[in-house]
Amino acid sequence: MTKIIKKNIVPKVEQPFQEEKQQIANLQKDSSMSIKVFSIAILSVVIILVGALLLTKTNQNTENTKGISSEKQINKITKEELAKHSTKDTCWLAISGKVYDVTKYISSHPGGEAILEGCGKDATDLFFNRPGGKGSHSPSAQRLLSQYEIGELE
Ligand code: HEM
Repeated sequence: MTKIIKKNIVPKVEQPFQEEKQQIANLQKDSSMSIKVFSIAILSVVIILVGALLLTKTNQNTENTKGISSEKQINKITKEELAKHSTKDTCWLAISGKVYDVTKYISSHPGGEAILEGCGKDATDLFFNRPGGKGSHSPSAQRLLSQYEIGELE
């Protein structure tokens, strides 16, 4: 009888410990999972940040390249080339170092065909000292010029 009682008691005492062990094991499993998830999240954030940083740098470089190339794109026009455009069908004129193609403007020029006098040459003096003692063109006439700019005189 005594032996039977002993056998029944032992498993009853050990069972709670086993459950605790199991719980501890589960907790350890859970915490290691949490650490993994946390590490993955941190890694993702770092990757995203590095990616964004690289993207910004690439954009800056592209902008710089654009800046340089637009500077290089200035159209240099020789006096010889300018001289080839001296008629009302193709009228280029140079004013203060810049070259303007005013062909399309001739028909609306308030001074009429007087503008043709400047075609194919450096017309700086003509523009700022109009024939007939009319003096310089107005500031608004000077602003008009910019839309006809095609390059710089070499
Ligand atoms: C370089 C050759 C040019 C000559 C000899 C010339 C001559 C003249 C003259 C004589 C007038 C006075 C018209 C009048 O009041 O009876 C005039 C007016 C005017 N011209 Fe020209 N012109 C020239 C080029 C240009 C260019 C390149 C522009 C603009 C793209 C321009 C825009 C004007 C304007 C807006 C007026 C009205 C008055 C003013 O705002 O100054 N001209 N021009």
